[in-house]
Amino acid sequence: MRKKIVAGNWKMNMNLKEGLGFAASLVKYFNEKPSPGAEVIICTPFIHLAALPELLKNTELKSGAQNCASEASGAFTGEVSAAMIRSTGTQYVIIGHSERRTYYHENNALLNRKTRLALDNDLKVIFCCGEVKEEREAAIHHEVVKRQLEEGLFSLPAGELKNVVIAYEPVWAIGTGLTATPDQAQEMHSYIRSLTEEKYGKDIAAAMTILYGGSCKPSNAAEIFSKPDVDGGLIGGASLKLEDFAAIVEAV
Ligand code: 13P
Repeated sequence: MRKKIVAGNWKMNMNLKEGLGFAASLVKYFNEKPSPGAEVIICTPFIHLAALPELLKNTELKSGAQNCASEASGAFTGEVSAAMIRSTGTQYVIIGHSERRTYYHENNALLNRKTRLALDNDLKVIFCCGEVKEEREAAIHHEVVKRQLEEGLFSLPAGELKNVVIAYEPVWAIGTGLTATPDQAQEMHSYIRSLTEEKYGKDIAAAMTILYGGSCKPSNAAEIFSKPDVDGGLIGGASLKLEDFAAIVEAV
């Protein structure tokens, strides 16, 4: 059976004190509950990462970054490398979020370099893909997602796919309150799994965790997660509230 995951993406929210306080409240909550049966990850701003592994040790929670540099080291002012992230004890990194693609013009070739560096530095990658509204309306959403995966991810050798999670995040659903219907999510997830199978074979495709992201909340999570190819969620806004995030973990 493949791994179920709920990952919170805090985006650019919470200062150091707020973030560590919130993480401590998550630790307290999850320590008092039976094991969720899914991996729970919080992807925070860089400033929290140095302190989180210590705070999360002996818990089932894991931490992740939201981005990493596309170069290994050197004169790249303002950047944080995959090796630096890993040196904090952090296990995951999100690569290719639509906000990075849109606001920072990150293209598939650059994201491929970041993915390579992350894996070389022993980080697990949550690789995001998804179409914008106009692309879905023009019925080219399959092609768009296929290109993102082919150019960003599918140059990896088969052995590395076990350290990759794919997140399908339709851009029109992110932070808009508009969720993909469970059937729309299932349809794209099944397509992503079939692309993975074409490239890497049945076993790797069957083992690939594919997350849904985009206005996922307690009221819709269970129905989306009930679909056979949806293995959990990448949660933005709702990951910033303990009750909502906990309810979504419950739903998976
Ligand atoms: P929202 O859950 O706020 O729509 O954000 C989704 C997302 O971008 C997670 O990476």
